[in-house]
Amino acid sequence: MAHPSTYQPGSGFERWLDARLPVVRVMHDQFVVFPTPRNLNYWWTFGGILTFMLAVQIATGVVLAMHYVPTPEGAFDSVERIMRDVNWGWFLRYTHAVGASMFFLAVYIHTVRGLYYGSYKAPREVVWILGVLILLLMIATAFMGYSLVWGQMSFWAVTVITNLFSSLDAVIPGLGTKLVEWIWGGFSVGGPTLNRLYSLHYLFPFVIAGVVLLHIWALHIPGNNNPTGIDVKSAKDTVPFHPYYTIKDGFALVAFIVLFAAIVFYAPNLLGHPDNYVPANPLQTPPHIVPEWYFLPFYAILRAIPNKLLGVAALMTSISILFFVPWLDTSKVRSTSYRPIYKWFFWAFVLTCIALGYLGSQQPEGWYLIFGRVCTIYYFAFFLVVMPVTGLIERPRALPGSITESVLGPEESGEIEETKNTKETKATPPPAARKRKREEVL
Ligand code: HEM
Repeated sequence: MAHPSTYQPGSGFERWLDARLPVVRVMHDQFVVFPTPRNLNYWWTFGGILTFMLAVQIATGVVLAMHYVPTPEGAFDSVERIMRDVNWGWFLRYTHAVGASMFFLAVYIHTVRGLYYGSYKAPREVVWILGVLILLLMIATAFMGYSLVWGQMSFWAVTVITNLFSSLDAVIPGLGTKLVEWIWGGFSVGGPTLNRLYSLHYLFPFVIAGVVLLHIWALHIPGNNNPTGIDVKSAKDTVPFHPYYTIKDGFALVAFIVLFAAIVFYAPNLLGHPDNYVPANPLQTPPHIVPEWYFLPFYAILRAIPNKLLGVAALMTSISILFFVPWLDTSKVRSTSYRPIYKWFFWAFVLTCIALGYLGSQQPEGWYLIFGRVCTIYYFAFFLVVMPVTGLIERPRALPGSITESVLGPEESGEIEETKNTKETKATPPPAARKRKREEVL
């Protein structure tokens, strides 16, 4: 929320700096006194957790890069050397590898939170679009990082995914093949491919960090959405970010780190594939090529479609469709909590994504394939049919009068005094007044 600055430089140095580069003022206004809705729940702590995870991935990645050798002959062995000979190398590598999974877990929760509470709706469309861009960059970064191990799964995942571009041959003959050779830097996945994947894997996290800054900047113009989805109406509806949300975010972060640490120390290979402990062999294809768990739903969509070009198109669309969500959802109410019909479709969508994740890990045949196709249809129907149509036909539940009222109830929030004599309270207005109220709120 754009609000007047309340920063008072405390010392001569602060005054001097403030006149030249007001970083302390920006931090104070945006992260100390920033007016934040008083009703944010724990789903709002994942933005902070994600920022932490990005820092962990960059810190561990930079040190891993000091020991990693980006050549087909040296890559696999250098990773093993990090695990065995480099001081704390095993810790760095497991933290980075498990960290990628935890990062995706957090980003999926963060995205589903945004979808549920309608945080993509005006005036936060740009926050959302930047988020989707971050998600795409994360997907590319994780894919490239996995390839660097140069185990069997790394090698064949790169082969399968880069080969997808050859489907463009169906549009312009020869175009796809040329593109794939250009990406490989040769006629097969090899040294030049590994080198460019390494270079971009190092670069992208810093690009993500830049986009995250824009994401938070764009968020701080309108301020946070909240579980009711209604706007902040008065200062009573907000509390300063510090200490209220620094404490809440800090607590959630510690709980998240406990889970993260438990996996790193007790089950570091829980989410990995054993084939990636076998050095890459271009002459032997593994029986089942499967990506990491966080790509499985998209992989299931790719394989649900019998045509290669259309499969690739569906895969691309399954992510890029998120860019259009602010305009696909026609509902005037943000939060799904107040949408009795949409709520069912929403949870069916979440279950569909989980089912697609399971199906992506199975062979695409028999019932798995049929079920995969049904789930793929619902995945797209959710965005293209459910979102536009339910918004138009559904009657949302009455919204609270204010954020404060939703937390304290009408009595304590002082919102019923004028109507006391008439025995009609604002909490239970007659239907016509309720409808008017809903329109006012919107
Ligand atoms: C590296 C990844 C990301 C980081 C570090 C990040 C960071 C943050 C932070 C710190 C916040 C404010 C706190 C909160 O609401 O949790 C936020 C809010 C938000 N983020 Fe992200 N984010 C990331 C990815 C994404 C993605 C992938 C999406 C959606 C596709 C997204 C959508 C949003 C939205 C809509 C909000 C506003 C939430 C609201 O006020 O209701 N973000 N993000």
